[in-house]
Parts: sequence; C-alpha cells; structure tokens
Amino acid sequence: MPMKENILSNRLKKIAQYLPQGAYFADIGSDHAYLPVYICKQDHSARAVAGELNNGPYLSACQHVEAYGLADRIDVIKGDGLTVIADVPVKQIVIAGMGGVLIQSILEQGKGLLDGVERLILQPNVDSHYIRKWLLSSSFHLTAEQILEEDGHIYEILVADANVMPVNNMDDQSVKSLMFGPILLQEKNDAFRKKWEREHKNKLKIISQIKQAKEPNQAKIKQFELEVEWIEEVLTDD
Ligand SMILES: C[S@@+](CC[C@H](N)C(=O)[O-])C[C@H]1O[C@@H](n2cnc3c(N)ncnc32)[C@H](O)[C@@H]1O
Repeated sequence: MPMKENILSNRLKKIAQYLPQGAYFADIGSDHAYLPVYICKQDHSARAVAGELNNGPYLSACQHVEAYGLADRIDVIKGDGLTVIADVPVKQIVIAGMGGVLIQSILEQGKGLLDGVERLILQPNVDSHYIRKWLLSSSFHLTAEQILEEDGHIYEILVADANVMPVNNMDDQSVKSLMFGPILLQEKNDAFRKKWEREHKNKLKIISQIKQAKEPNQAKIKQFELEVEWIEEVLTDD
C-alpha cells in the first residue's frame, strides 16, 4: 500500500526540514512511521529508528516500512520513549504530535541515553513551556522555533542542539519567555497571534468560571489574570 507522495502533513514536512542530509534519527512515537519513510525515501544515506509504545501503531509502522522496502534502513522498535535508542547511535531525535508534558517526561526519563545525540526536534501539540523549561536543565540549547497552522490546529516546533553556545536571548529563562517561546516572540507571525488570541479568550473564560465557584481559588485567578496581561502585552507591543 504505497504512501501517496503528498500524504505527509505540512507539520511533518516542516519537522523534516530540520533533519540534515544523511540523518540517523529516532522518531519516538512514530505511529505509521510516516516521517522515517518520507526521509529515507528521498535521502538514500538516511537511517532511522521508528520507536512505538503501542502495539497497533507499532504494527502499522512495521507494515509501512516493509511496503516501501526500507527495513534495511529503518528499524521499527517497540518500546517506551527513548529506551528504543539504548543500543543505537542516533544523532537526531524527533518527538512529535504529543502533549508537552509527555514529551518532557520522555526526555527526562531517557536523559541518560542522550549522549552523542546532536539535535532534538520536538513538536508539542500543547504545553510547549514544559519542554523549554526542561531544555534549560539539559545540555541542549534552543536554536529554532516554528509555529504553523494546519487544518485549524496550531503547532509549535522546537529545535534544540547540543554543543552550541546559546545565541542572543535564546537562553532567556523568564517565565514569559518559556510561555511564548523566545524565538517565536521575535517574529510574532500570524499563527502566533492566532494562538495567543485563542488562549486569551480561553483564559478569560476560565477566570469567569473560577469566579463562579462558591469559594473561588484566588491564587489561580491571579495566575490566569497575570497570563492574560502578558498576552495583551505581547499582542499589542510591537
Ligand atoms: C498522535 S501520535 C503522533 C504520531 C507522529 N509522531 C506524528 O507526529 O504524527 C502519538 C504516538 O505516540 C505513541 N506514544 C505515546 N507515548 C509513547 C511513549 N512513551 N513511547 C513511545 N511512543 C509513545 C502513541 O502510541 C502514538 O502512536
């Protein structure tokens, strides 16, 4: 069942742009192994590990890799998080299409396996600040951020490299910078604005819901109000 040329989402195509020619990468939570197949089909020097925790997606990945005759360059391995790279000297790791909390916990649990890894390409669907915070405690530095909209969803892509010096304010540790993304904040493109306009609306709604409780949680209200203030600042301050 050959994959149509255009089946890869723009989101995965953008992620693919951060893999170098001749990549040797692990795609953790690979599902159908779409990304490894896409990369290895167009770059004959690339190799990959498709890691999957769950049986259904693991079998789909195996079938997909077999169907393209790529089993000699893509190892599909069943396992939790980074355990699948224990015996494989990959240079890049992609973790995409999950929540930021899960991605952060996969990185934290597998941090002992990251020696020799040069680049992390992380694409949280939500809660990217957990990942930015984790990066500060790691030997990886944020070197690129992207935000894009596809099919009504807004996605962020965070790229972090080992062995690089932090550039400009990319190591900014402020809570505000972790929330918005230091690099995304410099550009504030349309997707960025749309995301934070949505978040602004959501947070106002949550504040009014909390206020309706019998004993409203004042600390929570204060926190949300502060975030609303930051969003307003960021969206108006140019
Ligand atoms: C929504 S899919 C994303 C697939 C693909 N990475 C993408 O971005 O389109 C998330 C995948 O991660 C897998 N997954 C969840 N937790 C995992 C873990 N701890 N280790 C490996 N895979 C995991 C799920 O089984 C699922 O196939």
